[in-house]
Amino acid sequence: MNNEVVIAKDLTIGYQGTTVMENLNFTITKGEICVILGASGCGKSTLLKHLIGLYPPIKGEILIKGQSIVNAKNKERQEIMKSFGVLYQSGALFGSLNLEENICLCLEEHTQYSKDEMKDIANEKLALVDLAGFNKYYPAEISGGMKKRAGLARALALEPDLLFFDEPSAGLDPISSAKLDRLLLKLKEDIHATMVVVTHELDSINTIASKVIFLDKESKGIVAQGTPQELKESCNIDFVQRFLSRDGLLS
Ligand SMILES: Nc1ncnc2c1ncn2[C@@H]1O[C@H](COP(=O)(O)OP(=O)(O)OP(=O)(O)O)[C@@H](O)[C@H]1O
Ligand SMILES: [Mg+2]
Repeated sequence: MNNEVVIAKDLTIGYQGTTVMENLNFTITKGEICVILGASGCGKSTLLKHLIGLYPPIKGEILIKGQSIVNAKNKERQEIMKSFGVLYQSGALFGSLNLEENICLCLEEHTQYSKDEMKDIANEKLALVDLAGFNKYYPAEISGGMKKRAGLARALALEPDLLFFDEPSAGLDPISSAKLDRLLLKLKEDIHATMVVVTHELDSINTIASKVIFLDKESKGIVAQGTPQELKESCNIDFVQRFLSRDGLLS
């Protein structure tokens, strides 16, 4: 199989009349953890939402595992969307459903499993993110970090080999955040999953990123891409260096 899991070609994105990013070109290959960086409001979430097919691009092409998510018709698009997991910036759990039901809902939409099988899968995924025993809790009854992990459990429900995360560790304490990073690395090792992660956490970037894409609001484009080490060694853009070496964590 082709190793190119996500390809953006001359991609221009935005919302009704507003262009957020222009002419983006990048490729994410199998097993890579690609971190998207950039200042607040530059368009990281916007890029993620376009990559997963929530919004049509203004121009250009997005290929997911070789298939165009831009040109796909409804059924085809749903198939593509079923093949990856997403953790939104807010966690986006349904407040009226407990954790088990939140995960089962996603399985009901996309699979033919029996109710009992779905419950088993839901609880297996909750255990994977250290939430065993919290299956009957409602989102309002658990902490922010637990919500993130429950969102991750739901993203993993369909066992996708491609995952998109919008700030998975924002609002987590350093220990929970490090734990989440370890979980992502384990997924990378165990199922050779490919991940696209928006994060501001320097520790995370250093621990998990095999590739970094740096977005810039001013030029509405990618100003640097490569491994964190490559960027640190050879990128001469001042704010990229400042971003990557704050607190000297990369040195
Ligand atoms: N649904 C929307 N409709 C119109 N404009 C939007 C929408 N969502 C975001 N924007 C605008 O797009 C720009 C990029 O926003 P986005 O949420 O992608 O930034 P971000 O890089 O994810 O920021 P943060 O780090 O704060 O999460 C902002 O100017 C924002 O106001
Ligand atoms: Mg965002």
